Amino acid sequence: MKIDKRDWMFIAVVVVVLGIFVAISGKEKTTLVPNNAMHKVSYDAAYKNAPGPDASLYKRTFFKADKKAAEVYCEPCHKEKGVPYPPNHPAKNRCLFCHKFKR
Ligand code: HEC
Ligand code: HEC
Repeated sequence: MKIDKRDWMFIAVVVVVLGIFVAISGKEKTTLVPNNAMHKVSYDAAYKNAPGPDASLYKRTFFKADKKAAEVYCEPCHKEKGVPYPPNHPAKNRCLFCHKFKR
């Protein structure tokens, strides 16, 4: 098979799309919320309705952590404890949109 100019164009487009894909997924690696005593209150709020290990597969598959309930605690406590934000930290709401829970 001969690879002509058109084929090279196609290959270039595929490479660029893959590159963008990798670049975006790299940005997802924001610090996770530590799963420690300090953060237990947030984990508990998010998973208070979590189905137990013996719940139906359906319930376990479609369970969504209550992130909004958990986020209520983030900012006030970080303020109180003086946890520093890095410079240029983005808008400080919806923390869990970027900082994922460990679990
Ligand atoms: C009861 C207090 C408290 C609450 C509630 C809390 N934090 Fe924290 N957080 C801390 C303290 C103190 C630290 C400093 C490090 C440590 O002790 O874990 C910290 C550290 C962090 C870090 C940095 C971890 C690291 O590895 O550097 C992230 C990210 C974070 N918190 C996110 C959150 C998010 C998101 C929420 C809400 C879902 C939240 N925290 C709720 C007290 C709290
Ligand atoms: C739009 C995304 C976004 C949102 C929303 C967001 N953050 Fe961050 N946060 C970042 C990024 C990016 C960093 C810096 C680099 C990293 O953590 O990997 C960061 C860093 C931090 C750090 C320092 C982590 C460390 O390792 O030193 C803390 C603490 C933190 N954020 C807490 C919070 C809290 C609490 C909220 C909600 C009130 C919040 N963030 C909302 C993106 C976000």
